Amino acid sequence: MAKTITITDSLVPNPAPQSTIIRLENIFKIYGSGETEVKALNDVNLTIYEGEYCSIMGPSGSGKSTAMNIIGCLDRPTAGQYYLDNVDVAQMDDAELAKIRNIKLGFVFQQFHLLPQLTALENVILPMVYASINPTERRDRAAAALKKVGLENRLNNKPNQLSGGQQQRVAIARAIVNRPVVLLADEPTGALDSRTTQEVLDIFGELNASGITVVMVTHEPEVARQTQRIVWFRDGEVIHTNLTPTDLTQLAMS
Ligand SMILES: Nc1ncnc2c1ncn2[C@@H]1O[C@H](COP(=O)(O)OP(=O)(O)O)[C@@H](O)[C@H]1O
Ligand SMILES: [Mg+2]
Repeated sequence: MAKTITITDSLVPNPAPQSTIIRLENIFKIYGSGETEVKALNDVNLTIYEGEYCSIMGPSGSGKSTAMNIIGCLDRPTAGQYYLDNVDVAQMDDAELAKIRNIKLGFVFQQFHLLPQLTALENVILPMVYASINPTERRDRAAAALKKVGLENRLNNKPNQLSGGQQQRVAIARAIVNRPVVLLADEPTGALDSRTTQEVLDIFGELNASGITVVMVTHEPEVARQTQRIVWFRDGEVIHTNLTPTDLTQLAMS
C-alpha cells in the first residue's frame, strides 16, 4: 500500500529565487597525471539560488558525481573557487569541511548508505550526535523527520526490515534532520521502481516547497522533468545551465 505523505509546510509558496547559495567558479578536478590524467571537471561555472529545485543530467562519466561531491564538500577541486552560502570552502581542511557539511548540507545517495545494525530512528539520530544536540531533542527531531517522510510506524525497524523506498525515505529523514540549507541527492531514485521513485520525488518537492534548496543528479528525464531547472554536463563541462522541463522534451524529440 502506498503511504500518504503529508508535509505540513507544503502549501507555503516558494520564495522567488534570488540569493546565491552555491557558486562554483572556474572549477577543475583532475585525477591522475600524464598518460592517465582525467579532467573530470573542466572549468565549471555554476550558480544555484536559494530555494531552487534543480537537477543535473548528462551522460555517464560527464562529471556529475564529481561536481556533486565538490558541492557537497566531500571532495575538493584541483583549482577554482566554491562559495557555499557565501563562504569560500574550496580550500578548507577536512575538519572544517566536515563541520560545514554537517550543518549546511544533507545528502541522499543511490544506495541509501544506512547503517545496517541501527534502527531507522538510530540512523536518523546519528548526524545530530556529531552536531552535539542533546539526547532528548535528538530523539524528538529524528521521530519528527521520520514522520515527515511517512515512516512514523517504522522507527524501530532495521534497514533489512524495510523496502528500498522506505530505506531511501529513512535516508532522506537523516539528510534533513539537521535542517540543512541544501539537500543534495546523487541518483536518489536509481535503485527504485517507478512508484517508489514518485514517492521520493513527492517528498523532495514538498521539502523544496518548505524552503530547502534541492540539487539532484539523475539520468532519468521523467525525474528531471519534475524539477524546475536542469543543468546539463558533458565531458566535464556545463553545456546548459538552465534547461526547462519543456526544453528537455524538445531535446528528446530533436
Ligand atoms: N577517483 C577517481 N579517480 C580517477 N578517475 C575518476 C575518479 N572519479 C571519477 N573519475 C573519472 O572522472 C570522470 C567523471 O566521473 P563522474 O563524476 O563519476 O561521472 P558521472 O557521475 O557523470 O557518471 C570519469 O571519466 C571518471 O572515470
Ligand atoms: Mg555519477
